[in-house]
Amino acid sequence: MWINQNDATACLGPCESSCLSSEALGRLGVAEAMMRIHDRKIAICAELETIADCLPANVDHMTCLQVAATLLPTLRLAHDYEETVVFPAYEKAVAGSGRALSTDRLRGEHISDACFAADLTGILLDIGHGGMVRQPETVGFMLRGFFDSLRRHVAFEREHVAPLVSYSAFTPPNRSSDARGCPRQCGALARSV
Ligand SMILES: [Fe+2]
Repeated sequence: MWINQNDATACLGPCESSCLSSEALGRLGVAEAMMRIHDRKIAICAELETIADCLPANVDHMTCLQVAATLLPTLRLAHDYEETVVFPAYEKAVAGSGRALSTDRLRGEHISDACFAADLTGILLDIGHGGMVRQPETVGFMLRGFFDSLRRHVAFEREHVAPLVSYSAFTPPNRSSDARGCPRQCGALARSV
């Protein structure tokens, strides 16, 4: 379903449960915001898995276009929040405990996921616009490689990072000046607080 591009409040209602926005995340506690991010990533993985399962003949073009439109913006917003809020909260929570886990690897995975997602976005746009799926086995392999990796990343953060950020005394930076629109590109702009 396409959302009216002129409806500036569209993303603040029902969409909020499935979309990410910096405003929506800013209203949540760190742990809850992280859960919201993970849920959205897992939902994208499920969408990509459905596409991979339907290649080449039964793939739904509209689904490809919708995922292509949301994949990169969702990852950018998620990575920005995790790297500026979640990881500092985690590092503060474990400081001096001897159980510190470097977030460098997770930050590196964010970079590789974003690069991979950029490649997939182009492929999904081609398919969505009716292009013939050349080498469907290769496309399927790429899709599965991406969502398998993303699911592992989310599982790791859920197991090792999320349980600790709830107890962190970290105060998230004021992100009101960093308001961003809905990654689903429904036209809604996050309101400045
Ligand atoms: Fe992450």
